[in-house]
Amino acid sequence: MTFKSTLKGTATGAALIFAVSGFHTALAQDGPPFGESGKAKAFPGIPEGTVEAMGGEAGINLWVKQLFHYILLDYRIAPIFIEHGNIERQIALNTQLVQRVLGAGNEYLGASMSAAHGDLGITMEEFNAVVEAAYNACDAVSFHYYQCNQIIAGLAPFTFDIVTQ
Ligand code: HEM
Repeated sequence: MTFKSTLKGTATGAALIFAVSGFHTALAQDGPPFGESGKAKAFPGIPEGTVEAMGGEAGINLWVKQLFHYILLDYRIAPIFIEHGNIERQIALNTQLVQRVLGAGNEYLGASMSAAHGDLGITMEEFNAVVEAAYNACDAVSFHYYQCNQIIAGLAPFTFDIVTQ
C-alpha cells in the first residue's frame, strides 16, 4: 500500500500537525533548534539513529529534492515558490533543517522559519499542500510510513511560524 492510497488529501497531515503542535511551547522554551551550536534537539519521541535509518544526509537530500519536485507540480503552491523562492538554496537549507530536527547534531545556516515565511501570507491550505508533497516525496524515496511521520512531527512545531493567515 502506498502513501498516496493510505493518505487521501490533506486531512491526515493536518490532523498530525495539530496533534503534535502542542510541543511547540516545550521546544520554544528550550530555544530554537537552529542557529546555535551544540547538541541538536530532536522532536520528543524521535529515536537516535533516525537520520542514519533514512540514508544519512544523502538520503534526506534525495527526499528534499523529491519534495520540491512535488511542490513544483502543485498549482496551488508552485507559484509562491517560483515567485519568492530560490529552489537550490531551499533544497540545501531544508536538507540541513530536516536532519537537525531529527537529532543529527548538524548546523542549520538559514533564516528562522518566521523570518523566511512571515511576509508571505501563507495559509493553512497552502501549508497542507506542502505536507501532501512531503508524503508523496516519502513514497518516491521509499521511506516507511512511520519515518515520514517522524519528519512531519519534527517540522510540525514550525507550523504557526509559517502559517500567518
Ligand atoms: C514545515 C514546512 C516548511 C519548512 C520546514 C520550510 C523551510 C524553509 C526553509 C529552510 C527556507 C529557507 C530559508 C532561507 O532562505 O534562509 C524556506 C524558505 C521559503 N519557504 Fe518554506 N518551509 C515550509 C513551508 C513552506 C510553505 C507552506 C510555503 C508556501 C506555500 C513555503 C514557501 C517558502 C518560500 C517562498 C521561501 C523563500 C523565502 C525567501 O527566500 O524570501 N514554505 N522555507
